[in-house]
Amino acid sequence: MMSELVELSNHDGVGVITVENPPVNALSSMVLNLLERCLLAGEKDPAIQALVLIGGGRTFIAGADINEFLEVLAGRRALADLHPFLARMEDCSKPIVAAIHGSALGGGLELAMAAHYRVATSDAQVGQPETRLGIIPGAGGTQRLPRLVGVVKAAEMCALGSPLKASAAFELGILDEIITGDLLAGAIAFAKKKARQGAQHPKTRERNDKLGSAESNASALAALRGEVRKSRKNLNAPLAAVDAVEAAALLPFDEGCRNERKIFDQCLFSLEARALIHAFFAERAVTKIPGLQKAAPVASVQQAAIVGAGTMGAGIAMCFANAGIPVRLTDQDPSALERGMKNIRQNYDNSVKRGRISAEVSEHRQGLIRPQPDHDGFENADIIVEAVFENLALKKQIFAAFDAVAKAGCVLASNTSTLSIDEIALAVSRPARVVGLHFFSPANVMRLVEVVRGQATGSDVIASSMALAKRLGKVGVLVGNCFGFVGNRMMFPYMREAQFLVEEGATPEQVDAVLTDFGMAMGIFAVDDMAGIDVAWRVRQEFRHLEQPGVRKPLVADQLYAMNRLGQKTGKGWYRYGEDRKPVPDPEVHSLIEETARKAGIPRRRISNEEIIERTIFAMINEGVRILDEGYALRAGDIDTIYLNGYGFPNYRGGPMWYADTVGLRTISTRIKEYQRAHGKLWEPAALLERLIAEGRTLSSWDEQKQ
Ligand code: 3HC
Ligand code: NAI
Repeated sequence: MMSELVELSNHDGVGVITVENPPVNALSSMVLNLLERCLLAGEKDPAIQALVLIGGGRTFIAGADINEFLEVLAGRRALADLHPFLARMEDCSKPIVAAIHGSALGGGLELAMAAHYRVATSDAQVGQPETRLGIIPGAGGTQRLPRLVGVVKAAEMCALGSPLKASAAFELGILDEIITGDLLAGAIAFAKKKARQGAQHPKTRERNDKLGSAESNASALAALRGEVRKSRKNLNAPLAAVDAVEAAALLPFDEGCRNERKIFDQCLFSLEARALIHAFFAERAVTKIPGLQKAAPVASVQQAAIVGAGTMGAGIAMCFANAGIPVRLTDQDPSALERGMKNIRQNYDNSVKRGRISAEVSEHRQGLIRPQPDHDGFENADIIVEAVFENLALKKQIFAAFDAVAKAGCVLASNTSTLSIDEIALAVSRPARVVGLHFFSPANVMRLVEVVRGQATGSDVIASSMALAKRLGKVGVLVGNCFGFVGNRMMFPYMREAQFLVEEGATPEQVDAVLTDFGMAMGIFAVDDMAGIDVAWRVRQEFRHLEQPGVRKPLVADQLYAMNRLGQKTGKGWYRYGEDRKPVPDPEVHSLIEETARKAGIPRRRISNEEIIERTIFAMINEGVRILDEGYALRAGDIDTIYLNGYGFPNYRGGPMWYADTVGLRTISTRIKEYQRAHGKLWEPAALLERLIAEGRTLSSWDEQKQ
């Protein structure tokens, strides 16, 4: 039996149902209908003794089709109900084997758990990642999974959403066999064996042996809830998932499923789910760059080289090594190179100690990083990354040296955070090869890379840079070449307003507490102390000429710098730091702020938490809208992806641009105009904000129009 998406074919008495719904075989309503038809046909066919369910292409079924959730949210379709089909699978008189490669996630795993048996390749992964989308499993996952692995483990898997490798899933009893060699052949052999044995085939829903009781699960679930409240702060879905799984030990299967569905519906229609689903698609949309053909061949990086072995250079070297790419690392200062290599070693040693990688993998990766005093071998590199001090003349000198040594197709990248890629490109004879690759610190940990397009940067260089980011396990987002690019440019007004607020009467700890309550990973003053008060000071020196006379500027940070209160590195900055590096409010800083405000004639008053959010986050949003209008970011969703992956913006708010839509552009504009009346020019509303309001549109609709 044939259809475009699902096909049933007879392999020597075993009916193989293949799902071919690229790219990830998402379980759409159409796929579900066709699966049902193939299942019925296979069950009826006397020439078929057993059934194998397998995914075509690169994966098993990676989940329900998330696009359909958007249609449900828009009121354009009803939510599909998978339960009748899954029950029919379990009740099938012939054994059904799910054969898994790639990923069996969400609805994919739920489907596999309704099969009688599950086999997988050793590199497959299985999991219930729904909470990452703000929802919970909605097709019996919270009821079948605990029947295979126990309530506590299932609650952990559903709440945290991390997938399991095949070996772990086998140990836990989710998988019945790991297939070495050809998956389909192995699955067919397995199915034939089960058909021959002829016994009753296990129905997951009827298994109760691992469920335990309310009492036996209680303390472990309480501990899990505690962990979830900490690690998934302010999120609802992970706790809801624990509730749904807990019910498996309290309610009969069908009732447990009804309970799950009720919770699922509540989650789906929440702001959290809308924001997280937006974030999912926004992250995938960043690769769609007008003018770049996705299918165009991209030269793969075989060898890399880095100049500058400081904080960033050493971290970037690890990124290459982690992706299996040999990398040469050099520094003008032999002791800096030595220090960089020592940091790299310590980092890998820590990963081994924490059990994240094995000692062999660590050795192998370190072996891929080759420290050297010169540019020897740079002529073979496919990419050279510059990560020296933030100084334009120096960077130009380094790029001129690259020009002399690099081969024709080499990408010449700068990790600059503030300097102009166009200026840097003037130093070489081939400006089309020059691009910014703005990694974030610590480079081996942070997922974001801003790929900065200069005026001359070639499309092939952009395509290679985006592909490289993906290969390094990063999210590359294309941005234009403006001061601070996208992420830092939006940080400037955010930081500025935070400092104004303390001058006007707030304290650093009040501002930081309000921001972390809002969901930011860290408060802005704690961030400044971590990055180093001197770092921002240096940037200010470099760009003093851009300051406009008569426009208010923050007054305290320069004084902290002058007092050598450089943040964590000197034990004092906006806060004091003890051994544990936790920020402690410092009365000395309070006095400094009060004294500064007094001298500058800034009246002090009680600042409300609401004002703190508006002044910081709305200022950031206003700048983001300006960036969009000026074309330095392609989409509002790109800005959100930058903020979610590089700046600790709360994912359940979808990023600053999505958040702006949820607050309402009109509300934001009204408040911005009030601040403009109180504080002047710095609060001028972005022109695009006013245009969108006049047209009754949102930032999301701005993106849709650009699709
Ligand atoms: N529905 C619709 N589209 C999906 C999808 C899904 N579940 N999963 C992935 N896609 C799309 C992506 O949007 C992307 O589309 P594009 O090429 O047009 O941009 C394409 O598939 C490839 O995705 P990735 O770039 O992420 O591919 P990777 O190879 O890097 O990763 C993956 C593959 C691990 C499967 C990853 O895509 C993933 O994690 N997907 C989501 C899995 C998930 O959350 N499943 C649960 C869904 S909810 C559910 O099942 C509810 C159920 O309980 C009822
Ligand atoms: P760093 O001071 O830790 O390291 C710079 C290294 O470059 C030093 O080891 C120095 O000896 C070396 N160097 C200087 N001149 C050189 C030359 N002529 N040849 C070879 N090596 C030379 O600086 P960091 O923090 O690593 O910053 C590097 C670049 O990355 C800067 O452009 C910075 O703006 C950018 N950046 C920094 C981030 C951070 O958080 N530290 C984040 C993102 C970008």
